Amino acid sequence: MKFEHVLTANEKQTLIRVERLAKPTVLFHITDSHMHETDDREGIEIWAESVRQYSFDALETRTHFNRSLDYANELAVDQVVLTGDIVNGATLNNLDYLDKRLHTLRSPYLYTPGNHDWEYPFEPWSEAARSSQYAKFDRFTNANPSYQSAEVNGINLVAIDNSTYQITDDQLAFMERQLARGLPTLLFMHIPIYIPSLLEDVMREWRSPIMMAAEGWDAKLMAEWMIEEPRAATIDFYRMLMDNPYANLVGLFCGHIHFAHRDAFGRGAYQYVTKAGFSGGYRTIRLLPMH
Ligand SMILES: [Fe+2]
Repeated sequence: MKFEHVLTANEKQTLIRVERLAKPTVLFHITDSHMHETDDREGIEIWAESVRQYSFDALETRTHFNRSLDYANELAVDQVVLTGDIVNGATLNNLDYLDKRLHTLRSPYLYTPGNHDWEYPFEPWSEAARSSQYAKFDRFTNANPSYQSAEVNGINLVAIDNSTYQITDDQLAFMERQLARGLPTLLFMHIPIYIPSLLEDVMREWRSPIMMAAEGWDAKLMAEWMIEEPRAATIDFYRMLMDNPYANLVGLFCGHIHFAHRDAFGRGAYQYVTKAGFSGGYRTIRLLPMH
């Protein structure tokens, strides 16, 4: 399968030529809006902690988010994909607000969670915290927050939750099956995969290598970020994406680090990181036939 990533002059635009593509296809990527709409429905202390914790301007974050959805509607995109940290905390009002806004979309969407989506006031980040909140994301994910796929004009869009920096055995098997279908495939995840050329910028911004399967963590930083060493399935997943066994993994699209980045990844693919929604970021992904 042939495809070509065309260099664009604007970090909000991605252009990919794909051999034998049935028709031009436009996707819209939103990530890291970090909205906080928590109110008093779960008690005053939950509300107070949400207000205390975040410096994001609530009006600004929701304004950017709503403008992005409007823009996706104006463009009449084929699919919207949201890659997590859309809200700060799985509180009732955050999720109800999100649901209400997503209902304004005229295109279908895929949603994969980020670590801030499933956090909850007073609960530290952990796999247990994610498990306890996970079902709240059923309504955005066809009842499977862990992994999903959607086919659009012969392109396979895969969303996988790697927001604990790990991949499960089920997710690994799912990704294998998706690639084996042989369709041009785009993978959407919250956390970018480690690429050496991304390390310097991530360290400058975050002082920790907050990428999946990253090198450069030390024990103290891992404890601070509450993450664990990559498990076997995480490493196998990383190797599979790098190897690109069916040569049909076209691109990866992520967020988490909040700035835009584009770089070659593995055999022929590119990894695109999209700028955070709270600061006006989004990405249009145009897939055009190759002549
Ligand atoms: Fe984020």
